[in-house]
Amino acid sequence: MLSELAASGPTTEFRTVWWDAGAVCLIDQTRLPHTQAIITCRTLADVAHAIKAMQVRGAPAIGITAAYGLALVAQQTAVFSDLPTMLALLEAARETLNAQRPTAINLSWATARMLRVAERAAYMQAEPPTLAARLLAEAHTIHAEDLAMCHAIGRHGASLIPERGHVLTHCNAGGLATAGYGTALAPIRTAHAAGRAMHVYVDETRPFLQGARLTAWELQQANIPLTLITDSMAGFMMQQGAIDCVIVGADRIVANGDVANKIGTYTLAVLAQAHQLPFYVAAPSSTIDVTLADGSEIPIEQRDPREVTQLAGQQIAPLGVAAAHPAFDITPHHLITAIITEQGVITPPFGPTLAAHAHAALAPAE
Ligand code: MRU
Repeated sequence: MLSELAASGPTTEFRTVWWDAGAVCLIDQTRLPHTQAIITCRTLADVAHAIKAMQVRGAPAIGITAAYGLALVAQQTAVFSDLPTMLALLEAARETLNAQRPTAINLSWATARMLRVAERAAYMQAEPPTLAARLLAEAHTIHAEDLAMCHAIGRHGASLIPERGHVLTHCNAGGLATAGYGTALAPIRTAHAAGRAMHVYVDETRPFLQGARLTAWELQQANIPLTLITDSMAGFMMQQGAIDCVIVGADRIVANGDVANKIGTYTLAVLAQAHQLPFYVAAPSSTIDVTLADGSEIPIEQRDPREVTQLAGQQIAPLGVAAAHPAFDITPHHLITAIITEQGVITPPFGPTLAAHAHAALAPAE
């Protein structure tokens, strides 16, 4: 099955999401690492469900999936709709997709980019099938660009990892969360591919266990040495001198450099500062949102508390107990050593350079 998941590139890369014969295909991330199953989304509802249920997750990956979801809607509506109807259906589909996960800006960034292409095609009086073809081409472009951006993040970030370095990462900001190479895992993959010795400590990342299930699986596939720890072990590991730096991904980086990422990221940043360790955030410029001034403005997704009270469908807390489940937290910019994007490494003050990097991500490909 792994060979089916492997893309034509190096074996450390695999396809997270792809278009096949009029459908959006995904690796079902809720079933990894033990079952490598593929989901075929044939309707907008299928795509929206896959995003909400986190069968596909990770900021760039849900953006790519949503872009293909809009291409799907365009193909299906082009056969019976005129241009105004198509645009109205695409706008409604965009709202449906955006509503599934509010924190990661990559989702609404990708759908906005798709709508701009649709509006331009409609303005030029393109035939509905032509508009649909342009949207599919744009989704492919978003997908390809993400892979290229992740490789560039790897090139820029690899030198930040010390020789024989021990890197702590949180959640999964790897190939599964992107088009196939990763953001936080990109510098690690690139340094490892260059023959550099290193070791990765992987936070299990309660409650969804993206670290234990997904990052551990990815690193193992890539033969990168790793040790899995529970989230509560990170401070002790730092105190023992076992960690040299922390690298995490991001779901949204706002104008002042504050970062939304998986719940538990802020805790790691505070710990890193207490132990005087560098704390790096790796993300493509599609994750930057300069319309928000600071992290307090970022919407935080609240997920079903049963994801906290249960583990793999098994009730672990007393029945009826109240539980909270904010899926993300905010790391203030003053705790971040540097932000690595595909355009380079940004050090404080983040504001002006972030704005320049974001600007480069705004324009859709012609
Ligand atoms: O809830 P998830 O699994 O979608 O959260 C993912 C993260 O927080 C990642 O760190 C982030 O999306 C960056 S992925 C390259």
